[in-house]
Amino acid sequence: MPEEMVGYIVGQVETGEFVFVTDTETYPLRYEYLVVRDVKEKINGEEEWIDVLAQVTRISNRSDILSDALSFDEVETIISKYSGTTKVFGKAKVLGYLNDRDEVMMPRSAAIPSQKVYTASSERLSRFFTKNRGNGINVGGLITREDVTVQLDPNGFRKHVAIIAQTGAGKSYLVGLILENLLPLGATVVVLDPNSDYVMMKNHREGGSSAIRDNVTIYRPPGIKGRRYSDEDIGGAENYTVEFNKLSENEIFEVAGINEDWVHLRGIISDALKLLEGTYGPKQLLDRLNWMAINEETKQRQDYAGRAANYIRRLLGYEIWGSANIPLDELIQPKNMSIIDLAGLQRNVTQYIVQKTLADVWNLAVTGQLPYPVFLILEEAHNFAPADQRGFSTGIIERIAAEGRKFGIFLMVITQRPGKINSNVLSQCNSQIIMRLTNPEDMKATRNSSEGLSEDLFNDLPGLNKGEAVIVGDLTKIPTMIKVSGRTTGEGGSDIDLDAALNRALEDYNRGKRMKPEEAKDKEYETEW
Ligand SMILES: Nc1ncnc2c1ncn2[C@@H]1O[C@H](COP(=O)(O)OP(=O)(O)OP(=O)(O)O)[C@@H](O)[C@H]1O
Ligand SMILES: [Mg+2]
Repeated sequence: MPEEMVGYIVGQVETGEFVFVTDTETYPLRYEYLVVRDVKEKINGEEEWIDVLAQVTRISNRSDILSDALSFDEVETIISKYSGTTKVFGKAKVLGYLNDRDEVMMPRSAAIPSQKVYTASSERLSRFFTKNRGNGINVGGLITREDVTVQLDPNGFRKHVAIIAQTGAGKSYLVGLILENLLPLGATVVVLDPNSDYVMMKNHREGGSSAIRDNVTIYRPPGIKGRRYSDEDIGGAENYTVEFNKLSENEIFEVAGINEDWVHLRGIISDALKLLEGTYGPKQLLDRLNWMAINEETKQRQDYAGRAANYIRRLLGYEIWGSANIPLDELIQPKNMSIIDLAGLQRNVTQYIVQKTLADVWNLAVTGQLPYPVFLILEEAHNFAPADQRGFSTGIIERIAAEGRKFGIFLMVITQRPGKINSNVLSQCNSQIIMRLTNPEDMKATRNSSEGLSEDLFNDLPGLNKGEAVIVGDLTKIPTMIKVSGRTTGEGGSDIDLDAALNRALEDYNRGKRMKPEEAKDKEYETEW
């Protein structure tokens, strides 16, 4: 779009903002991008002429004749005899100018009243907002100018990225879009996916295979019932299970939910484990504890063994034990995305798998065995590194957040509860993508963790619509508001069509085909996390 003149600068002009007069026909909308050409600036002592980009923050209409001191009758009398023009004023904040290296600089001089104000062309805007053009990751367009594509600089992921927004704002859609563009650049990606949000990425959203299908592997524990998508739906999956007899004592305590303070229960399990040989599973440990509950020397030890057995018995019901570990050397291949589907697993098991996967990658990194950078995608991060308690996986997440980038591990932390996530983890994310957010506690936490989030942008967060985002940090040259679009891969967690689902429920009910209770129970697992 060509640059059209929309007004003249008037009044007092500052380096950071100015007022312009326009009219009721041509005025630009709020948030529109403007340019003031040929503003005089001194650069290294030399006089130069720069084009300054600005954004409309306010548009107002005023009449001096029809002042607010007039009564209703006076106004009626005046407008019956006189047709004055309305004055239209706009206010704009200066975003900066591009220097000869295409970097955004803030001017140190102000424009002169009488200078013309134009709407900025798409070409100018795309140069202004996109860093690393050519290699960038397309994520959509500018919020008010969707024709201007915005690309993220892949180098921006060096700083760990937090993706923050309330539920349903479009985080997972955006992350999927980023990943489908990051992967072809050669990236190694590991997605820890508690809600099966990424399992459809081998499929094109309009049917058939996606372009990245051959570079995606989905790992799933077999035997989880009531899944939203079958292995067939997702284009095939690899099994993974956990080898019980490779778990350390501490890991067994964690998975079984045996609190650190319960030293006697921990002690008796530890004794039972010492007596087990060869390959054993939770069944063998349970048998041993049951035996101890009868044969231990003291009544008290029998009692501890009996109570410990109750915890271990629960593990038998978990559909996760076996010897198909996720192959670590596959995970770290270049141009390779591994999606670990955690849906349907019990909370403690999920925590364990997250902890183990992160710890495995970390151990490779610190021993110099990580040949390529690895991007770790942590959905529902507030559950794995909560603010108010130390979860099993908190330690390793904090560690990677603090030191991972030195070793080529880059985190993408996704959360709908920034107020509930460990603040060390959040503040280590120097790039943020923030979408609609209205909860005051979450807004405050986001504000505290994000240096680049200005007052204006912060105030805009509750007004964002689904799919709109503010990008702050190293991913773009300056904070940028975008409308996310262009995803081609399928989504796992997209909103269900509730209307259609209720219709189906009603039809089944009318036919007397209500779901049997035991089938309904399996479905519950899906929403547990
Ligand atoms: N940019 C977009 N364009 C079109 N549809 C979108 C966009 N972003 C999100 N959606 C749709 O909105 C719904 C919610 O998006 P998404 O699942 O990404 O939200 P979320 O922030 O991850 O929510 P939750 O916190 O519950 O996981 C989905 O059905 C998705 O298809
Ligand atoms: Mg999501």
